[in-house]
Amino acid sequence: MTEMLFPDDIARAAALLREGALVAFPTETVYGLGADATNDRAVAGVFAAKGRPSFNPLIVHVTDLRSARAIAVFDDTALMLAQAFWPGALTLVLPLRPEAGIAPLVSAGLPTIALRVPDHPLAMALLRACGKPIAAPSANPSGRISPTTAAHVAAGLNGKIAAILDGGPCPVGLESTIVSPQPSPSLLRPGGLPIDAIEALLGAPLEQRKDSETLNAPGQLASHYAPKASLRLNANRCAKEELLLGFGPVEADLNLSPSGNLIEAAANLFSHLHQLDTMNKPIAVSPIPQTGLGRAINDRLRRAAAPRGT
Ligand code: TXA
Ligand code: MG
Repeated sequence: MTEMLFPDDIARAAALLREGALVAFPTETVYGLGADATNDRAVAGVFAAKGRPSFNPLIVHVTDLRSARAIAVFDDTALMLAQAFWPGALTLVLPLRPEAGIAPLVSAGLPTIALRVPDHPLAMALLRACGKPIAAPSANPSGRISPTTAAHVAAGLNGKIAAILDGGPCPVGLESTIVSPQPSPSLLRPGGLPIDAIEALLGAPLEQRKDSETLNAPGQLASHYAPKASLRLNANRCAKEELLLGFGPVEADLNLSPSGNLIEAAANLFSHLHQLDTMNKPIAVSPIPQTGLGRAINDRLRRAAAPRGT
């Protein structure tokens, strides 16, 4: 049985994590499936609960830059990015300090580690109460849609994890943007922090790593985030048997943002896909502009639409 916990139950959630149990918790991006990052068995439990291929490394969540620097080596670019955007929807992939005590399974044996400081009061309270870095991928079964409510987490993982800390819907609704500062600043995954903001700070465009170069960033696997039914993009009209996921002023079964607001669309993306997914019909999606958060939304939608079988 999975226990439902609420903001008053932070101490209980932290105690479970310290015992090596798995606790899903809200962040500003999506719900994470948390485990003590220094406990190999707990981390293994994450892969098991998600049914995730074991070569997918996890993101480690910490309370502040100081704790992050105890785990990874920051160069000047990394420091600048962390100071500008933490707490927030930016994950940095950095050289791991082997002596930091992070379970090797967390980084799937890679010499690097993905780190971020979440901008969410419950996530921060949990990290402080737990006193450990928390490894947490999105709290969904592998390859499925990321959860933005406690109910989404329960639908995918009920019975497989110790507890779910319910903090209401996630305000951003898209996973973090992943950047590797070295050897030159590169984008590994577009996400909740707009790329333009990062490039403005760096004063240069981010390199885009190709899939082959980021085979260890399975957010890059083709068929990820897949709903059960098929998905068709850039649909200006929709067939009788299809459900339309709209954007802008169109008549749709569900609309990401009737006013065409990309921030609202990002926050609605996964929950609308979840809802349509329960109806078991092919899904058509209105065109979404390739600007601001539209890039991350389109990236997720393309993966959801990719041929299955990976
Ligand atoms: O917003 C988020 O990032 C959420 C919340 C819970 O923080 N987490 C999340 O985790 O989306 P996950 O595991 O679903 O996606 C993490 C991505 C994966 O694509 C993983 O491969 C990549 O980060 N990653 C982790 N460590 C890496 C590393 N050392 N090198 C390259 N990619 C890495
Ligand atoms: Mg995920």
